[in-house]
Amino acid sequence: MSSTFHVRGGRPLDGEITVRGAKNLVSKAMVAALLGEDPSVLRSVPDISDVRIVSNLLSIHGVKIEHDVAGGTLQLDPSNVERAHVADIDAHAGSSRIPILFCGPLLHRLGEAIIPDLGGCRIGDRPINYHLDVLRSFGAVVDKREMGIYITAPNGLRGTKIHLEYPSVGATEQVLLTAVRAQGVTELTNAAVEPEIEDLIAVLQKMGALISLQTDRTITIEGVDRLSGYEHTALSDRIEAGSWACAALVTKGSVFVRGAEQKPMATFLNVFRKVGGGMEIREDGIRFFHPGTPLKAIALETDVHPGFMTDWQQPLVVALTQADGISILHETVYENRLGFTSALGDMGAHIQVYRECLGGSSCRFGRSNYNHSAVVSGPTALHGADITVPDLRGGFSYLIAALGAEGVSTIRGIDLIDRGYESFRDKLGALGAEFWEESR
Ligand code: EPU
Repeated sequence: MSSTFHVRGGRPLDGEITVRGAKNLVSKAMVAALLGEDPSVLRSVPDISDVRIVSNLLSIHGVKIEHDVAGGTLQLDPSNVERAHVADIDAHAGSSRIPILFCGPLLHRLGEAIIPDLGGCRIGDRPINYHLDVLRSFGAVVDKREMGIYITAPNGLRGTKIHLEYPSVGATEQVLLTAVRAQGVTELTNAAVEPEIEDLIAVLQKMGALISLQTDRTITIEGVDRLSGYEHTALSDRIEAGSWACAALVTKGSVFVRGAEQKPMATFLNVFRKVGGGMEIREDGIRFFHPGTPLKAIALETDVHPGFMTDWQQPLVVALTQADGISILHETVYENRLGFTSALGDMGAHIQVYRECLGGSSCRFGRSNYNHSAVVSGPTALHGADITVPDLRGGFSYLIAALGAEGVSTIRGIDLIDRGYESFRDKLGALGAEFWEESR
């Protein structure tokens, strides 16, 4: 079933919403439960489609799952992990990037793993070469077959030294989820150190893993023979919180995001303040608001943590269309995450994209043909348009633009937003947005 979503813009969002656990931690913590010999309990789990996809993948591998959706608690019992039917695995082809992270845990539990064709947002090529190199380095044998990728470990998995050429989040998680039960010590250099990774390390430590994180992006893991279950409350979703913050700014409103945490959002909060956004940081959340004074243009580069997250870039670009002057944006994480700007142009925004690295440093996309820099001239009044969601964050950004635009916008493919934004329709309603939906 596909839905068409209509928004009448021009109303300030005003009120309170709650964010729960981070999609990009929860899905990985669910995979980690496979490594334990006893049940695990994960709390603050959002009701998003990515959680349902990972639950299905775990279920077909014999993990018993109980999900209290309203309470946000998942109980995962991996006592009877078993091989899944290829057809059941294949049914998940194209649905998510998470299956690639099942490799290490399944190799430890079953001695083999079958990975379907992966999905995830089309924001670049999104290869899996780092993942496969990591697995080979532990001693796994990777065989690309028609049904997907078939991975075995005939001689077991052994600790190893790995250097990532780029601090990839997924490849770092691949190392962690494989090394914790490998024989011997693993040393990972140039690791990603996103807060979601630190939280995954916390989960694994609760299970009995030995992991130390140095200040120079080095992670050392001493393999252990047995891991237990865990009880953990996921860190809150800083991407969702940042997205609602931008929505407050663009609609000239005020949104209290209950559950938003200051520390993992520190870089975002600095940028939000430089743009001219108002905030009140409280123990139980953060209120984001438009202070009534003109917003300011900025120069910004996305980067791995502790830099400005690529996932905040798309919502922020919409806010920059309302800032006074010329903003420069350099996307250095994904080569193709600015395609969403053309539809903003249809809504009245002035955004020009460039192949060159604009705004200071050069990045690994500098000599390529990818439009990965943008110049945003503002402020421009936005007007309603007919737009199609390109990817998860781009889709929410269109929603923000529609909420700030004059007139009615029609957004197609809205269901993609359910992958990462829990109950966004209810939240929009609570904040006073005017929208209606047709399903067919
Ligand atoms: N890369 C490779 N080879 C690989 C893996 C990655 O070249 O084998 C490249 C990617 O193409 C990209 C860069 O390395 O240019 C960084 O990718 P990374 O591996 O860090 O990303 P990921 O693990 O696939 C996660 C999040 C993304 C988030 C990025 C960066 C999940 C499920 N996804 O992706 O979140 O943008 O880290 O922080 O955790 C989203 O939530 O909408 C989303 C896309």
